[in-house]
Amino acid sequence: MKIRINEVSPRDGLQSQGKTLSVAHRLSLIQALVNAGISSVEAGSFVSPRAVPQMAGTDELFAGLTNQGQVRYAALVPNMKGYELAVKAGARVVNVVLSVTETMNQKNIRMSLPQTADVCAAIVDRGRHEGIDVQAYLAVAFECPFEGPVEPSIVAQYARLMHQAGASKIIIADTIGAANPDHVRRLLDMVIRDVGSDILSCHFHDTRGMALANIATAVDRNIREFDSSIGGLGGCPFSPGATGNVATEDVVLMLNSMGYDTGINPFDLIPVVHLAEQLTGLPLGGKCFPWLGRQASPNTSEIHRGR
Ligand code: COA
Ligand code: ZN
Repeated sequence: MKIRINEVSPRDGLQSQGKTLSVAHRLSLIQALVNAGISSVEAGSFVSPRAVPQMAGTDELFAGLTNQGQVRYAALVPNMKGYELAVKAGARVVNVVLSVTETMNQKNIRMSLPQTADVCAAIVDRGRHEGIDVQAYLAVAFECPFEGPVEPSIVAQYARLMHQAGASKIIIADTIGAANPDHVRRLLDMVIRDVGSDILSCHFHDTRGMALANIATAVDRNIREFDSSIGGLGGCPFSPGATGNVATEDVVLMLNSMGYDTGINPFDLIPVVHLAEQLTGLPLGGKCFPWLGRQASPNTSEIHRGR
């Protein structure tokens, strides 16, 4: 059974780094990910370059993307202006972000929660008419760094709204890595009752070391798509306490070991972790990274290959 891995390091990973990478370096990271078998990538965002200088030049980046036929490249947008810029640059998949608390929306995009919900619904609707796939992130779905724990019923309410608007995917995002398997189970049970599991994906950060446990729980709830970031690169500049995303190599190794088909060989990710380290100047690597590096022959064990 297939599980889709959506790589978010070129956006979620790089946007919070002190060092701003050139477009050429961002493209080299994306190319290395694609060469390693990644087929879904959040490549960048069309946001104010004053708010997030790390994502400046995403239009130029989209012009330089290769393998457009095989790889699903998405762009994050905070408003209609971002949507228009993304589509003009050639993006066919656009991600909107609806934080489910008032304060998070204000801090992130300087709009109220109802305003953001309206804007997201309008972008989803426009995308449907223009043949653009619009996916909706429900950010801080477990806990908000400003308002604390979030009730699953609130998340379900916004999931219904985005579902009714026609979002092609709804991504439940643990922006600060505060979820635990029990919370994941309660939230998914409620949301799935309203919108089904096929439309859902999950986005976990590994701040408290529970991301893999959360993913395993979501897999049990029939979630078949997950966001991850090579080497665990990540964070969010607007969300205090958010550390790295769950590492792609950890998610791939776990899911392959469980018998799921990610289509990715985790050993092929080793050079990409090294490249990401080189480009960012940060020490990177998920929980399994030392083990992966110690294996003499990557081809000996069938179970660790994406099948
Ligand atoms: N892309 C590029 N520029 C944009 C933009 C977009 N999507 N949306 C607005 N702008 C520009 C405006 O044109 C304006 O430029 P100007 O001053 O040269 O005329 C400037 O940004 C301010 O516009 P305004 O509508 O007043 O926005 P703001 O200052 O209230 O900022 C956002 C709102 C949404 C643009 C800004 O907060 C932002 O980009 N946030 C993104 C945060 C993010 O990426 N978070 C992580 C992912 S969820
Ligand atoms: Zn994130």
